Amino acid sequence: MDLKNRVAIVTGGARGIGLAIVEDLRSHGASVVIVDAGVSISGEPLEPRIAEQVAARMEGTAAVCGDIAQSETAQQAVRLAQERFGGVDILVNNAAIIRDAFIFKADPPAWDAVLRTNLTGAYRLLATASPVMREQAKSGRAPGSIVNIVSTAGFYGNFGQGAYAAAKAGLMGLTRAVAHDLARSRIRCNAVAPFAATRVTESIKPANDAQAAYQGKALRVPAFYVARLVSFLASDAASHVSGQLFGARGRELFVFSQPRPAQRLLQPHGGFELAAFGAAARALEPGFADLVTDLEAFSGDPIL
Ligand SMILES: NC(=O)c1ccc[n+]([C@@H]2O[C@H](COP(=O)([O-])OP(=O)(O)OC[C@H]3O[C@@H](n4cnc5c(N)ncnc54)[C@H](O)[C@@H]3O)[C@@H](O)[C@H]2O)c1
Repeated sequence: MDLKNRVAIVTGGARGIGLAIVEDLRSHGASVVIVDAGVSISGEPLEPRIAEQVAARMEGTAAVCGDIAQSETAQQAVRLAQERFGGVDILVNNAAIIRDAFIFKADPPAWDAVLRTNLTGAYRLLATASPVMREQAKSGRAPGSIVNIVSTAGFYGNFGQGAYAAAKAGLMGLTRAVAHDLARSRIRCNAVAPFAATRVTESIKPANDAQAAYQGKALRVPAFYVARLVSFLASDAASHVSGQLFGARGRELFVFSQPRPAQRLLQPHGGFELAAFGAAARALEPGFADLVTDLEAFSGDPIL
């Protein structure tokens, strides 16, 4: 798994899972542009120069201290990757923020901030990097790879996480659409739902016992395993893998199913009478998904 001569852009690469991804890509020979605004979990300014500080101590990296919600940041990152390292082969959309609120106590500015960072930010990098990646592929360079970091909250849901779940589910939809758009160029796009101890897992406020159990266990899971999956997806060994949804939790790797019809039922011409609908619709119930949160679904012991 050699990533020598490959150039990566990693958003949110100055700490947590993003930093583990940067380190693993570097250890396999890739050069990396770290894009990080140095914000708190909720997106408030905290350490604005952290990307530069991390890049200064890691050879083969360069930094953009910018906010991915701003379109200039994506342009700066792509330009820097081209000028400093000669192109863009790998894009990891990892930066995200969390501002939780129950939907019945909705906070529109928080919704906007989360969607702007977690979904529009990824879109801006994709829109700016993909033309460069396509041109490179046309000119004979090995096709590139995109990894979007999503969350199980986006497909299980969790209390108070409407904005975060919507943004992550949106990023999953974007992953599929981008995988289609770039298939002809043989550039692939996959999603990874990570589990790892970071400042985010430290900050979880458990809503019940299952969530408290999840937190205790999550705090023991190193980010390294997520990073190694990302390096694999970035490498030529995964050149046939696109449009998939993976998970990594300690040593466990998952591929998640994606929504497909689970049961089929035909209405008569003109539709079921409403009085008859309930009884007929029972036939769909074997396809129902449990209404459990992601934290409950993964509250078992991680394998480390
Ligand atoms: N930790 C987990 O178990 C877990 C679970 C599910 C999903 N995730 C996802 O993994 C990714 C990384 O999470 P983490 O736990 O390492 O988070 P973290 O808060 O520790 O790190 C996020 C990094 O992104 C940067 N960032 C945030 N907003 C930015 C912006 N607008 N522009 C540029 N940089 C920005 C921050 O400065 C920070 O360095 C996120 O997408 C998160 O949603 C993590």
